[in-house]
Amino acid sequence: MTYELLQVSPLPPFMMNALQEADYIVHDHTHIKDPGALSKVSAIVGTGAAKVDRKLLMMLPNVKLIAICGVGYDGIDVEAAKEKGIVVTHTPGVLTDDVADLAMVLLLSIGRRIPQADRFVRNGDWVDDVFPLTRKVSGTRLGIVGMGRIGRAIAKRAAAFDMPIAYTGRAPKADVPYPFHTSVAALAAQVDYLVVAVPGGDATDKLINAEVLQALGPKGYLVNIARGSVVDQPVLVQALKDKAIAGAALDVFWDEPIVDPELRRLPNVVLTPHIASATDETRRAMVALTLDNLRAFFDKAPLPTPVPECQTPQDSD
Ligand code: 8YV
Repeated sequence: MTYELLQVSPLPPFMMNALQEADYIVHDHTHIKDPGALSKVSAIVGTGAAKVDRKLLMMLPNVKLIAICGVGYDGIDVEAAKEKGIVVTHTPGVLTDDVADLAMVLLLSIGRRIPQADRFVRNGDWVDDVFPLTRKVSGTRLGIVGMGRIGRAIAKRAAAFDMPIAYTGRAPKADVPYPFHTSVAALAAQVDYLVVAVPGGDATDKLINAEVLQALGPKGYLVNIARGSVVDQPVLVQALKDKAIAGAALDVFWDEPIVDPELRRLPNVVLTPHIASATDETRRAMVALTLDNLRAFFDKAPLPTPVPECQTPQDSD
C-alpha cells in the first residue's frame, strides 16, 4: 500500500530518496493546498525545524502521525496533536554523541580562540605578531543547564578534561553525582563555562537572560547547542558588546538561518550553522529511525520512539 506524507520542512536529499524507495508519496507543504489532496495525507514528516500548529492540523483530517527527524520537537503543537489522536515521534539517542562532541568543540574553540588562531595563520599575521594568550579549559568549572541525555554526554566528555561539573534542570537527578543548583543564575555564578542543553519551547524560552549573563560575569563563556529560543539573543549581544561576559559559542540562533549582523561582527563569538547532529553517520541514523517510526505506524506495530508526551505505559516498560 502506498501512503501519502506531508513534508513540513526541507528534508535532506538522501531522506527524500529513502522515503521514495519505501514507496511513500511526499507532498511539499508549500505546494499543496487542495483540501482533497490534503485529506489523502496520513502522516507528517519534518526535521527539528518543523512548525506544525493547530491550524495546519485542522486542514489534515486523516493525519495520525507526526514523524520528526530530530530530537527537538518544540515547533510541534503536541497538545493539539494529542487532542486529535495524533502521535508524535522523534529521534532521541542516535544524535547524542555528536551534539555532545560539538558542545566540547565549541567550548574549546571559544576558550582557546581556535577560529581566530586559524585566521591569524591564514592571514600571515604570525610573521610579525604573536597570537594573544587564551583561556585554559582543562580544570575550569563547567555548568550544564539540562542534565538529560545530551547534558550527561557533555558531562562525560568534560570529566575527561578534569572539569568540576555542576548542573541545573527541573529537578535534581538521583543518579547524577554532580552538585545541583536550583536556578540557572546560581549555577552561572559558580562556573567558567555555561553550556545550554535543554529542549526549546515555552518552558525554556529566554531562560538565559540578563540576570544569568550578569552572574556568569566578564570571565564566563556561554555555549548553546540547544535552541536559539533558550537565550535572550538581543540581551546576549549587548552583554558581549559590553564585555559583561567573556564570549559565546553558538550553534543555534533566533530566526535561523538569518543571524543578527551585530552578532556576526563581534570578535568574542564562535558561530556554527546548527550542525550539532550534522555528520553523515548520525544524519543517516536519524533518517533510518524516522523511517522505522513511519513503518511501525503503518504496520500498526509499537512505535520505536514516541515523544514522552505521547508515550503509553507499555512504551516505558
Ligand atoms: C537538526 C536538531 O536541526 O535534533 C534536533 O533537534 O536540532 C537537529 O538535529 C535537525 O532536526 C536535523 O534533521
